[in-house]
Amino acid sequence: MLSDIKKIKFHQNITDTIGNTPLVKVNKINQGFKPTIFVKVEYFNPGGSVKDRIGKEMIEEAEREGRLKPGGTIVESTSGNTGLGLAIAAAVKGYKCIFTMPDKMSIEKIRLLRAYGAEVIVTPTAVPHESPESYTEVAKKIVRETPNSILANQYYNPKNPESHYKTTGPEIWEQTGGQIDYFVCGIGTGGTISGVGKFLKEQNPNVKVVGIDPKGSVLREYFYTKKFSPVFKTYKVEGIGQDYIPGVLQFQYIDEVIEVTDKESFLMARRLTREEGIFVGGSAGTAMAGAMKVAERLSEKDVMVVLLPDTGERYLSKIYNDDWMRENRLLIPEKITIRYVLEGKKGVPSLISIDPVTTIRKALDLLNQHNISQLPVLDKGQAVGSIEESDLMGAVLGNPALFDAPVSSLMKPAFPKVHIDESINQAITLLSKKHPAVLVEDEAKVVGIVTRFDVIEYMSR
Ligand SMILES: Cc1ncc(COP(=O)(O)O)c(C=O)c1O
Repeated sequence: MLSDIKKIKFHQNITDTIGNTPLVKVNKINQGFKPTIFVKVEYFNPGGSVKDRIGKEMIEEAEREGRLKPGGTIVESTSGNTGLGLAIAAAVKGYKCIFTMPDKMSIEKIRLLRAYGAEVIVTPTAVPHESPESYTEVAKKIVRETPNSILANQYYNPKNPESHYKTTGPEIWEQTGGQIDYFVCGIGTGGTISGVGKFLKEQNPNVKVVGIDPKGSVLREYFYTKKFSPVFKTYKVEGIGQDYIPGVLQFQYIDEVIEVTDKESFLMARRLTREEGIFVGGSAGTAMAGAMKVAERLSEKDVMVVLLPDTGERYLSKIYNDDWMRENRLLIPEKITIRYVLEGKKGVPSLISIDPVTTIRKALDLLNQHNISQLPVLDKGQAVGSIEESDLMGAVLGNPALFDAPVSSLMKPAFPKVHIDESINQAITLLSKKHPAVLVEDEAKVVGIVTRFDVIEYMSR
């Protein structure tokens, strides 16, 4: 029987654990750079992202204004994290949720939202913002058609920047004891940068606020020129960048905007995880990669705080999946192996071979059909010889009876073998010694063939 609840240290519900995230010093990534760099690690929020802060605020404001009534439905277009922030508060308060999400977002985020009981509608990414198919327009339509529903509307809701003005900004000011010179943050809706930027500049107008924008977004160009080209380019980093200017984004609190590519973002997210033990998502990599560009020109006396928006768990199938990184040409390999060349071959199977009893007529057909000029001869999976188109043609022109002879009668020695995980240089050495092709081995089996043309094509890319 509980005798004195006052002696128990607890939170009334999970939303009370939002905020007060730690500030952590960066120790390795900044080696060779002069300023002191801290990161504000937002994955400590219960939903694993900075967006928990705004989810609760937007719902409570709608309740206060009487727009959201018991049994109501919360609708939002989200890259995932805002949905989660809303879903947590909605679970505690007993509301339903319907979210629209662009199809580029990771499957983990969709599953997470569904785990909280939300309905998720996936919309195409590569459509303009105003298209009726876009995630923002679909969300508006759902609100029109659902009784007792509200649009949380993070892109225009003043509660979004206000929550950062009330919590994230003061936390950073307090955690640094007011000793902050640079605040660096990615821009999605612009809620975080606007709210934190406003608060910090009110404390000290000399604090510089730097926004980081993914390459392909329009925000940087708009910041400097007040114009942007309406071309819609997709990029892979989630949660930041735009194809229009969100209503809550207040450029007056931003001093500069820096562009960062997907590759820089993802490789930096992986470094934060592996070198600092801070397991973050792609947009944290964007912010950190941008911060390092700023850090290059700063001195020992400068203090920088970089906001890291979410956890890496949400991107296990992407940024932390080497196959996905390789497929999207985002991974810089430590050594380029034959595997890369083999996987990069387009339109041709990795291995076309014949056995020694195949007729020369059939071999010529095969060469013609695949538009290739040599073939390995394999007997029960083992390389026993090779044939070249010019040799076969020369032979049958001189003696047409050879059409029906087996290739073993005309084959040359087998192509040399290289292991699939050997460096590409091994293949280059052999190919430049007049071998037209090398056979690729994996687990003692021939799994592919790499020709001079394949290597040259790979290198030219
Ligand atoms: C992963 C991630 N990073 C960064 C942001 C950007 O934050 P803000 O919308 O406050 O600019 C978001 C926003 O959805 C996000 O999901």
